[in-house]
Amino acid sequence: GKVAVLLGGMSAEREVSLASGQAILKALQDKGVNAHPFDPKFRSICELNSEGFDRVFIALHGRGGEDGSIQGALEQFNLPYTGTGITGSVLAMDKVLSKLIWHARGLNTAAYLVVSQSDLINKPYKTQDYLDILEELGGKVMVKPSLEGSSLGMTKASSAEELEKAIEHALTFDKNILIEQFIEGPEYTVSILGQRALPSISMKSASGFYDYEAKYHSNTTEYFCPSGLNENDENEVQKLAIEAFEALNGEAWGRVDIMRSPEGIFYLLESNTVPGMTNTSLVPKAAKQAGLSFADLVMAILSQTLP
Ligand code: DAL
Ligand code: MG
Repeated sequence: GKVAVLLGGMSAEREVSLASGQAILKALQDKGVNAHPFDPKFRSICELNSEGFDRVFIALHGRGGEDGSIQGALEQFNLPYTGTGITGSVLAMDKVLSKLIWHARGLNTAAYLVVSQSDLINKPYKTQDYLDILEELGGKVMVKPSLEGSSLGMTKASSAEELEKAIEHALTFDKNILIEQFIEGPEYTVSILGQRALPSISMKSASGFYDYEAKYHSNTTEYFCPSGLNENDENEVQKLAIEAFEALNGEAWGRVDIMRSPEGIFYLLESNTVPGMTNTSLVPKAAKQAGLSFADLVMAILSQTLP
């Protein structure tokens, strides 16, 4: 078979996807797979058909790659692809939809409000509105674009002025904004492969916020795997991650990000259906801890596309 590794794309996470995709491509080739890179930014995916590809490894992050659209297109061409299907991709990409579903299922996630660009155009907020939001959400919030990845567009806010700026900034990434009660970390992440959870990882960055810089460009970010949770808590966080992933129709592989408050309560942040596979990324670290090399991990993901 001939495998296309979809990478790059048009989203704000293009650079991350190029790094993930190149690493995946090399691993597949090292394993003897007839794999080729394919950047949908420069080529029409119709060419996948005409060039005789029979399977696709999706290494695209963010909109256009992780949100169900490419998944739908590949289904029109009858091309098997890695990871989650259309509905699950739509749900996990959208942080507001994710929280609605988790809430309905009784899975713990921080309190939040949603504000859209059109709400603000119809009725601009006054200082008191920002103060009311802060009061409702415990005084400190994290502001996030609903459809984005790698922490892009996210800012912490604890005053009316900061909140106004944070919303303005997030609106440059998406028209729907999530304002979430800030949960003091540490942050944990649980990788999912097949039906099982891999050992959790905890992350610690110099600024206390595991943001884009800390994720990809910092050499001071610390990763703990095993994460240091006791056996009970490790079981709890893995179970929560699997339930959260399945509630959003996640399939095959992914990663669920979770905060643990100082009181020891886990709060779901988000689920990723095409998590990063760069050399600083988390799923490869968890796989390694579980005894799986990067190439074995990539092959395990690919093999799930086989009938
Ligand atoms: N959105 C990035 C790629 C991640 O979740 O790893
Ligand atoms: Mg994400």
